[in-house]
Amino acid sequence: MKVLVTGGAGFIGSHLVDALVARGDAVTVLDDLSTGRRENLATAGGDVRLDVGSVADLDAVTRAVEGCEVVFHLAAVASVQRTVEAPIDTSAVNLGGSLHVLEAARAAGARRVVFAGSAAAYGDNPALPLRESETPRPLSPYAIEKLASEQYMRVWSQLYGLETVTLRFFNVFGPRQDPSSPYSGVISIFVDRLQAGRPATIYGDGGQTRDFVYVADVVRANLLAASVPEASGRTFNVARGEETSVRELYDTLRRLIGGGPEPILAEPRAGDIRHSRADIAAARQVLGFEPAHTVEEGLARLLASTAARRA
Ligand SMILES: NC(=O)c1ccc[n+]([C@@H]2O[C@H](COP(=O)([O-])OP(=O)(O)OC[C@H]3O[C@@H](n4cnc5c(N)ncnc54)[C@H](O)[C@@H]3O)[C@@H](O)[C@H]2O)c1
Repeated sequence: MKVLVTGGAGFIGSHLVDALVARGDAVTVLDDLSTGRRENLATAGGDVRLDVGSVADLDAVTRAVEGCEVVFHLAAVASVQRTVEAPIDTSAVNLGGSLHVLEAARAAGARRVVFAGSAAAYGDNPALPLRESETPRPLSPYAIEKLASEQYMRVWSQLYGLETVTLRFFNVFGPRQDPSSPYSGVISIFVDRLQAGRPATIYGDGGQTRDFVYVADVVRANLLAASVPEASGRTFNVARGEETSVRELYDTLRRLIGGGPEPILAEPRAGDIRHSRADIAAARQVLGFEPAHTVEEGLARLLASTAARRA
C-alpha cells in the first residue's frame, strides 16, 4: 500500500515509518525538518521518499499525497510553549495544515486519514479516567489547534465520506525523542541527565501524574486506526490507562541505571495539571488496541537504545 506520513522525520512519525516499511508499504514522508531529522529515517531502509516541505503549503501536501491510500498526519509544532508564543504561526501549521491534509486527501481519492490528536484537548478536566466523551477544556493554543483539527476530521468524514480517525496521544516516550528543550517530554530529559550522571529538575513535589505510553504502542494504535473499518469518524485515547508520578519515574530510572543523584526540586510550573489518566476502553473495543509495554519495560528499552547510541 502507498501511504503518506506527515511529520515522518520526527520522533513518533519515524517509528511509524519504520513499521510501515517493515510491512512492505511504499512511504512518502512530508516534513519540513523543523524538529524532525533526516537521520531518524536512516534505519527504515526500503521504500521511503522524503519530501522536504510544509503542511502549511497546500501544493506541497497535494504533491505528497498523490496515489496514497492512507495518510498519517503527525506534522505539527508539538511544543505547547511555542504555540503560546506564536499562535498565529502555529495555527497555520497545526490547524491550517490539518485542513490542507483533508482537502488534499479528498482530492486525491485517499481512503483514510489518521490524525495525531492530543490529550491536551482535555486540559484540566478532572474527570479521571478521561473518556473521549468528556468535555474538552483546552488550556493552550496547542490544545485548541489539536481539538479544532479533530473536529475537522470528524466533519470531513460526514460531509465527504473520507474516512478519518483521531488518536489522542497521552505522554508518549521512547528513542529519538529530543531532550533539548525544557518543554520536551519529561522522560527524555530525565534520561539525558541521569545517563550523564547529572540530576534533573522536578517541578513541584513530583506527585503530579501522567499516563505514559511507549512509542511502539502508539505505532501499533496508528496501524490499527488505519485498517479497522468501524473506527472511521471517531476519536480514541492512546495511552496505557495508568498513572505514573514524575517522582516514581525518576526513581525507576535511577534504579534501572544503577544509581544517580537526587533530583533538584523547583517551584511548580504555572498551568501544569496535577493528574492525567486515560480510559482506553474504546480503543480496546473498537481498535483491538492493547498496550504491550509497561512503563518500566519502555524505560528499559529506551535506556538500552540511548546507551547503544552513545557507545
Ligand atoms: N510526543 C507526545 O507525547 C505527543 C502527545 C500528544 C500528541 N503528539 C502529537 O504527535 C505528533 C508527533 O509528535 P512528536 O512527539 O513525534 O514530535 P516531533 O516534533 O518529533 O514531530 C513533529 C514532526 O513534524 C514536523 N513538522 C513540524 N512542522 C511541520 C510543517 N509545517 N510541515 C511539515 N512537517 C512539520 C517536524 O519536523 C517533526 O518531524 C504531533 O502532531 C504531536 O502534536 C505528541
